[in-house]
Order: sequence, then structure tokens, then C-alpha cells
Amino acid sequence: MAADAKTALETLAQEHRTFAPPKAFAARANAGDPGIYDRAAKDLEGFWAEQAGSLAWRKPFSKVLEWEAPYARWFVGGELNISENCLDRHVKAGRGARVAYHWEGEPGDTRTLTYQDLLDETQRCANALRSLGVRKGDRVAIYLPMIPELPVAMLACARIGAPFTVVFGGFSAEALSGRINDSEAKVLVTADGGYRKGGVVPLKKNADDALAQTRTVEKVLVVRRTKQEVPWTDGRDVWWDQLVGAQKADCPPEPLDSEHMLYLLYTSGTTAKPKGIVHTTAGYLAGVAATHRMIFDIKDDDVYWCAADIGWVTGHSYIVFGPLANGTTGVIYEGTPDFPDRDRWWSIVEKYRVSVLYCAPTAIRTFMKWGPEYPRKHDMRSLRLLGSVGEPINPEAWLWYHEVIGGGRCPIVDTWWMTETGMILITPLPGITTTKPGSATFPFPGVAADVVDEEGKSVALGGAGYLVITRPWPAMMRGIYKDDARYRDTYWSRFPGRFFAGDGARRDADGYFWLMGRVDDVMKISGHRISTTEVESALVSHSAVAEAAVIGREDPVTGQAIFAFVTLRGGKDGGEPLSRELREHVVRTIGSIARPKTIMFTPELPKTRSGKIMRRLLRDIANGQPLGDTTTLADTTVVESIRGASASGRDD
Ligand code: PRX
Repeated sequence: MAADAKTALETLAQEHRTFAPPKAFAARANAGDPGIYDRAAKDLEGFWAEQAGSLAWRKPFSKVLEWEAPYARWFVGGELNISENCLDRHVKAGRGARVAYHWEGEPGDTRTLTYQDLLDETQRCANALRSLGVRKGDRVAIYLPMIPELPVAMLACARIGAPFTVVFGGFSAEALSGRINDSEAKVLVTADGGYRKGGVVPLKKNADDALAQTRTVEKVLVVRRTKQEVPWTDGRDVWWDQLVGAQKADCPPEPLDSEHMLYLLYTSGTTAKPKGIVHTTAGYLAGVAATHRMIFDIKDDDVYWCAADIGWVTGHSYIVFGPLANGTTGVIYEGTPDFPDRDRWWSIVEKYRVSVLYCAPTAIRTFMKWGPEYPRKHDMRSLRLLGSVGEPINPEAWLWYHEVIGGGRCPIVDTWWMTETGMILITPLPGITTTKPGSATFPFPGVAADVVDEEGKSVALGGAGYLVITRPWPAMMRGIYKDDARYRDTYWSRFPGRFFAGDGARRDADGYFWLMGRVDDVMKISGHRISTTEVESALVSHSAVAEAAVIGREDPVTGQAIFAFVTLRGGKDGGEPLSRELREHVVRTIGSIARPKTIMFTPELPKTRSGKIMRRLLRDIANGQPLGDTTTLADTTVVESIRGASASGRDD
């Protein structure tokens, strides 16, 4: 960055500047009347009934909300089909020729899918799934790269009422098998491989390794993407092009109860076992469609690009269901931002005339590090609105995004939400809200959020505490699959009657929310949610490891980075070879997103007298901060020995 630009940004950061919606933007915004907040707060059910009214129903609902904490039922008694809402509805309205997705493969191949194309392929896929024995209620696991067949498979499942679980393509065989076993999936949809950074991810091989540890999968539907040789089991494995290609593009959508399970999505909690978050049909769709329309201000002539992976909730809600319900034209890109060069994203923005871009702060900080010359190579004047999600965005990154990517003219929506919430809950409305760099601003209309202290008392403006949501919302999770006790315990026991998000937050004097990160043992690595316990249990499953403690160390690009303290059986320091081996061991157990950045071998770990590892101390050590209170330590010499060991800590 040029020195003068840097100074300008620093000055902005110090000014605490606010950004009012540009007048022209506000004048034609989908949500332009600030009265919407009051109206929704006074009549929550009326507000959501109105949003749900724009969907196509097979049977009208008789009641908007039944709330028996901690379980909600929305649009009770109603029936609809999500794939009908996302596809048939638009085609019937004469919009079949509209582009649903401009798809761009990493090697540079492209596909354009209209709403008619997507409907046809979804119907063929739905028939193929039925021919493989999938019936309403059966679970289907999906382990695919970012190719059009991924949304097609999700929509096909939704069409026949088969709940699906998408497993991010970067997860390992072991992570995949755990999710298949918990969901008891009957069919797995995968691909031979996927492209990433110019190489091939061997998805089918991983899938086969996973299936060796599962019992429920009867058939495997395999998309041909990379065309390399793959292991094959006759009778079980079927090629997508052969089976799906042979089906009729005619599969009437099943009318489904509002509360029919749409999908399960596994996410890390504070134990080693991921939680299967349950989302259902009508409330979820109403929630993601309304938020997508208002927050991203979607218009017919927009080209919308959410650059997340569909394997995460952001992709479920804001690449697939929200945008398609709104008949949006979107972009899907398969690969990494630096292939073949660091301007790949900006070339995509220019090529498709992207007008709305939604991505994670980690990506923005990476682009900052690479420098403004990459975006400057491209004409990005098509952009009119920018979004951020997944982790707190620091004001510097916000301002850089605003200036360098948005040319100073695009409002930024910093959207706070979670896998559990299904839809965005705290966010600006770009035609109404005056933004402050780094703040997610205010709850979406109808959403009631509070910041509370240890006792659950609301903290006055200006103070910090725990973020809770105090009223139900339509896309909220409907529980943890097969684990009611864990659902109640994790989200509803700490502050009874209120949803505990697990985030710290502060409200400033104007009532703006500033998210401060997780307050539990969940890390955010490049916006990905990884539990410290999951990585610890992967480490101790290695025969050389006696004990491990993992913390998230602050990182200027990825937000947090994984820092592992490891005590070996017998040995003192494993040296670089063992350090490398342990990193790979974690990758094999969880996936590359969980690869520890630093491993430090220590003779012991600091514990309390009752044997609990003192993570707080380790966090201070890893972040190079002065140590807090050490009086509860059982053995105070341990800290000195860890400090002595710091020389053997290794970075990548
Ligand atoms: O800590 C918060 C952070 O991401 C967590 C949820 O992670 P996940 O379920 O993977 O969903 C991410 C995408 C919706 C939250 O508990 N988070 C998400 N968005 C923001 C955020 N932190 C600060 N600001 C955000 N805009």
C-alpha cells in the first residue's frame, strides 16, 4: 500500500467516521423506511407472516408461531416445498431463461445455468436419488466441491423431502465418516475430485476411506469432475452422468410440512464431537429469503456473489436458498483466490459485472496483504454493495474494503450470525443504517438481542458482556440432532429462556453492537469454526502424544491461528520431524482447516490443583502477553518451563 494511502486509512480509523447510506442508494433500497424496526418489534408474528406471504404455499399455515422454549414451530400447519419456491415458481412466472448461476471452475472452465436448467437438473437428480432408494425422511450426505451439482443435489433432496447434510470438501475421511454415522445417511453424493490451488483434492478416495468406517450408506453417486482414476465398488458406486443423465426432468415437488427437516449441518462445539444443527423448512426459507432481499438489497439486475463455500452455513443460506428463493442471478467460483494469480476474484467481478459481493474478513485481510495492485488491474465499477461475515472485521480491513474494493461508494453490511441461527441476525440495512467500521450495528427487524452480564442482567450502553437473543426467529435451529440435552445445555441453560450465542459483545453509547469473538473454547480460524477440544483429541490420538492443549492465537490475517502445546510421552522435544508429523496427523483426522500453525513441545502443561488445564495462561503465553493471575496453579514452575520451551515453538 502506498504510504499516503496508509496514512489516510489510519486517519480514518482514528476519526471514528460513520458512513450514512448514500442518498441514491437509500432512495431505491428494498428496505428504506426506518419504521420497519418498530413495526416488526410491535408485531413480530405479523412481520414474519408478511414475509412468508411472498412464498408459494401448498397449504396455508394456521398459526405463525408456537414457542415452547427452547423449541419453536413457525408457520404451523402449513405446507410448501423449498425447491418449488426456488425453481418452479420462477420458471412458471416466465423467468426460466434468467441465469441462476454463472459458474466458474478453477481451471477456467465455465457453465451458465438458467432457472430452467437448474430445475431440469434438480428433477433428474431427484428421480436418480429415488431410484437409489431415497425416500422422504431418509438422510443423504453430500461431499462435493463447489460445482453446480452441489446446489442441484441439495435442491433435489429438498424436492423429495430427504434431509441432507453437506460436508465441506476440505474435511478429512474421518470427519466425513463421523458425520455420516451421526446422520445415518443412506446415500452419499460425491465427486472423483475437486480442483484447489491447481491440484486435485481426492474426494472419492476420501469418501471410500470414510465409508470403511460407516454402515448406513447403501449407494454412492459420483460426479465426474477431475476425471482421474478413482477406486470403485461395483454395485454400490454409480456415476452421476450415467444415472442422473438418464432420468426424466419431471419430478413433482413433495408438499412438506413447515417443520419438516431440511438439513443437518455439523458444527464444532466445545467438545470433540461436532453437533448436528437441525434446520427445517418454511421458517428457514422465509428467514433467509427476507434477510437476503433486504440486507443485500437484491434487484433484478444485480449479479450477486457470495464467495463462501457451500459446505458452510453461509453457502447454504446465502448461495443456495436465500438467493434462489429471490430469483437472484449469482456467481459460484470453485477454487482459491490466488489461482492462477492473486487477482482471480477481481477478474471474476469484472467478467460477470458482479454488483454485490459477500465474503469473510480473512479474505479481505489477505487481499490487503497482497496489495491493491491486484484489484486495481480490473474494472470493478459494477460493485455497489459489499458484505462481511464469519468473524469480527477490524476497522482497518473494513476501511480498506470500502476504499480499495468498493471505490468508496459501496455501503458495507457486516453481518453477524451463526450456523445455529440459520439467517443473519445483527446487520445494517444498507439503505437505512449509518455504519461504523467494525460494528455489525443493530439486530435485523424483529430480532431482539441483548448484552448481559454473568447474572444475565442487561449491561448498560457502553458496556460489554455476553450476547443473547431474547425472542425466537423463523430460521432458528430446531435442536441438535438426536441430542436434546446438549441443545438445552449449550444454548439455553446459562441464561434461561434466552439463546446464548457464545459470543462476547459490547454496545456503544449509540447502541451499536460490536462483536468481540467467542467466549467459549471455539476458535475462529479464517472464519472457520474449530473447537480446541477437537484438535486436542486429534493430537492425543497420536501415539507419541501424552497431553495437548490448544488455543487460538491472535493472527493478523486469519483472525486466530491454531497454537498447540504438546507434551510427549517420555520425550522432551519432538523436533521438526515430529512437529510436521503431528500437523499432518491433525489434517488426516479433521481436515486441512485444522492444521496447527504452531506446535510447542513442553515438558508439562499448567494445571489447577483440580487438574484442569489453565488455558487462559497458555493464551497469554502464546500471545506474548504478561501472565494474569497464577495463584491457582498447582505447580508454578511449569510456567517457567514452558517459557523456556518457547524457543522450540515452530511456525510454518
Ligand atoms: O463468533 C461469531 C462469528 O462466527 C460464529 C459463528 O460461526 P459459524 O457457525 O461458523 O457461522 C459463520 C457464518 C455465519 C459466531 O458465533 N461471527 C459470524 N459473523 C460475525 C462473527 N463475529 C463477528 N462479526 C460477524 N459479522
